[in-house]
Amino acid sequence: MTNSRLSNLVIFFTLLLIYLSFNTSSNSKNIDLFKGMELYNKNCASCHMANLAGNPDWKSGVDEDGQRLPPPLNGTGHTWHHSPDQLFQIIRYGYKKFDPNYKGKMLGNEDLSEDDVWSILWYIKSIWPEEIRNKYNSYFGE
Ligand code: HEC
Repeated sequence: MTNSRLSNLVIFFTLLLIYLSFNTSSNSKNIDLFKGMELYNKNCASCHMANLAGNPDWKSGVDEDGQRLPPPLNGTGHTWHHSPDQLFQIIRYGYKKFDPNYKGKMLGNEDLSEDDVWSILWYIKSIWPEEIRNKYNSYFGE
């Protein structure tokens, strides 16, 4: 009798914990992959290209203003070396967030909501080769 009450309690609290952890994670981010793709095409593709390949000369070339060219976001560059939070900051606020004297072209998109930025980031991640995405998730979590 006592034993089965105890195990019921254990089951109850386990379920409660699972419920709470799902609930908090879905509350904090509302990610919509399709919207992420649309927002990417509207706000980012003009520089990073529709296929996320960036500018072919991104490693060494500069634009007409002497500024660095848009890198690829498709997994062939080093985007995946940055944590999700760093990428969020870059996309939302641009490089000036890290360097107040920044004069380059990655300006940020402060009109986008937090969920919009996460959705774009998840869309970008969805394009990465599976191997890179798995590695990334193992460093930083899903
Ligand atoms: C006007 C051109 C332009 C637009 C528009 C633009 N970017 Fe960029 N982006 C750049 C350039 C140039 C860099 C490299 C910055 C530097 O080195 O100065 C960059 C860098 C980045 C990086 C860092 C990549 C890395 O591998 O370190 C991310 C992530 C990024 N952009 C995402 C986005 C997203 C998402 C959007 C749309 C919401 C966007 N960018 C819109 C030009 C642009």
